Amino acid sequence: MTRPQKFWAVVPAAGVGKRMNAGRPKQYLELGGKTVLEHTLSRLLQSEAFAGIAVAVSEDDGYWPDLPVASHPQIIRAKGGIERADSVLSALTALRHLAADDDWVLVHDAARPCITASDIHLLIGTLRDDDVGGILALASHDTLKNVDKGSILGTLDRSHIWRALTPQMFRYQALKNALEMHQGNPAITDEASALELQGQQPKIVEGRPDNIKITRPEDLALANFYMEQQQ
Ligand code: CTP
Ligand code: MG
Repeated sequence: MTRPQKFWAVVPAAGVGKRMNAGRPKQYLELGGKTVLEHTLSRLLQSEAFAGIAVAVSEDDGYWPDLPVASHPQIIRAKGGIERADSVLSALTALRHLAADDDWVLVHDAARPCITASDIHLLIGTLRDDDVGGILALASHDTLKNVDKGSILGTLDRSHIWRALTPQMFRYQALKNALEMHQGNPAITDEASALELQGQQPKIVEGRPDNIKITRPEDLALANFYMEQQQ
């Protein structure tokens, strides 16, 4: 009898939030009475999609132990790494005795607290029988320019351009192999790019535009607005 397929979440949460420039890492900024990271984890937990959630936090992170969710039975702590890809790989390694090679892993940025259960289930429902996996993405509405030294060299064909969001969903062992193979390569800014370098063609699934990544100070107010709208 084959083992029923499981879904795991991996949450990279070991960044310092340089562009946010806030005095503490952005995953610990407050949003409506809870930290950004608590929102993100509570939404993943509430989706009831996951057998467990591996969270990569810095070794010297003094905020994490104070969060009640840190002791939740479904949460597994992992060490953060130098780059986002290193943190993801570390979290995958923390799952090595739990996840089977063919289990699905959904990697989701800690800094995207507005993720909805509907988008998680859309991604899973669309790709669970896929060979490779794929990502939530958004079409680009603006006209996009190829620019060099302040001058426009040309206009990109927007019909082929999508913005990569998270979660990004891949098979456990395939993702781990791809990240290990390309460790230290600065071109690996998301999970899909690691699979692309392996010659794979991950799928895109159109996600919701309110699944923003908190990157700059103004994004916090925007996340707050979207959360109110979602209620
Ligand atoms: N991240 C991580 N480990 C790193 C770098 C980033 O786990 N070494 C995580 C961040 O905590 C965040 C997600 O990856 O949840 C997306 O990265 P980004 O938005 O770039 O966050 P930061 O790296 O913290 O921000 P910045 O680049 O502005 O410093
Ligand atoms: Mg970063």
